[in-house]
Amino acid sequence: MRVAVLKERAAGEGRVALSPETTTKLISLGATVAVEQGAGFGARFTDAEYEKAGAELGDATSVVAGADVLLTVRRPDAGLLAGIAPGALVIGTMDPYGNEGDIVALANAGVSTVAMEFMPRITRAQVMDILSSQANLAGYQAVIDAASEFDRALPMMMTAAGTIRPAKVFVMGAGVAGLQAIATAKRLGAMVSANDVRPAAKEQVESLGGKFIAVEDDEFRQAETSGGYAKPMSAEYQAKQAALTAQHIAKQDIVITTALIPGRKAPILVSAAMVETMAPGSVIVDLAAERGGNCELTRAGEVVDHNGVRIVGFTNVAGRIATSASQLYARNLSAFVETLIDKKAKTLAVNWDDELVKATLLTRNGHVVHPNIKVPGAA
Ligand code: NAI
Repeated sequence: MRVAVLKERAAGEGRVALSPETTTKLISLGATVAVEQGAGFGARFTDAEYEKAGAELGDATSVVAGADVLLTVRRPDAGLLAGIAPGALVIGTMDPYGNEGDIVALANAGVSTVAMEFMPRITRAQVMDILSSQANLAGYQAVIDAASEFDRALPMMMTAAGTIRPAKVFVMGAGVAGLQAIATAKRLGAMVSANDVRPAAKEQVESLGGKFIAVEDDEFRQAETSGGYAKPMSAEYQAKQAALTAQHIAKQDIVITTALIPGRKAPILVSAAMVETMAPGSVIVDLAAERGGNCELTRAGEVVDHNGVRIVGFTNVAGRIATSASQLYARNLSAFVETLIDKKAKTLAVNWDDELVKATLLTRNGHVVHPNIKVPGAA
């Protein structure tokens, strides 16, 4: 069983799908591992470290040749797969919606494509949950980015020259990223508040020492799907939420937005008018920038200055902390690969009926097989 890893091709992507640590792990499970030279560069993993862990280093063509498994961070171009073993597994973040043509190309290349972001959020698969591992680090990094754009200190400082008040940080959306942002801002000494539309979030925010700010009406009490995700809220609720948050935002130094609804554009929670109520020097970090943004003024990939309020719209925020993000991402992937291996025979033995495989498999035997992926032109 040959596992291959390429250097990520996307501009600005520093992460890598395999770390030296997980190289050792896969080799102990019976795999041979081939890594493209320089693949770990952006995550500060050297070729020598991979070699020491037992990997074979080479160029992209030689690494892919004969591979049974290709591990990636982002969806690879089908053109990179020449020479891969027939029916090989390509495992990574596939971002299929809106990119259906690329998924068809992967099907046509004859590989079985696994979208790790479709992993069910069940106990057994927690160790494979790339959304959580990356969102957690993005939540941390959002606070670090906010602090570096902010011209003041976050903690209260009591000095001989007098006292500096702590910064007020408001986190919108208390899922995985938001909770880590709350915890990080607390550790830096800020006064932290947060909101969410899921009632379960209230207790979690308070347990981290944050103040919960939300319209707690009947709709709020029912606003969670059985999968634990947020539901889209009614226009009436959104108006009430906007009125409450508008008053609150006017008093904040830093706003970190993380609100998402699966499969939809991010909800706009911070209007231009709300930004205009904030004092110059305030900072908004919009973690939803890639999905359209939670702030009306966000521009993906940019830092916008609006009357002295900086709106940070970095994309791939987990990739800004590439070493830690790669370490955890690689562990997520190797934990999944482990379930695909027959440990005695030390060969790949995919159970196509396993719920984890069924939920994540996009292509197999030349076809797109996932029910949610609509192939362009197909009936
Ligand atoms: P997400 O990334 O889809 O959304 C982020 C947050 O935004 C969510 O908390 C959501 O409720 C919130 N949100 C949506 N619309 C909003 C609005 N209008 N105003 C304010 N907030 C809004 O969610 P994420 O981080 O993936 O987590 C979703 C849930 O899944 C959470 O309950 C989390 O604890 C749970 N989870 C469960 C896991 C498991 O293995 N059982 C693993 C990871 C997360």
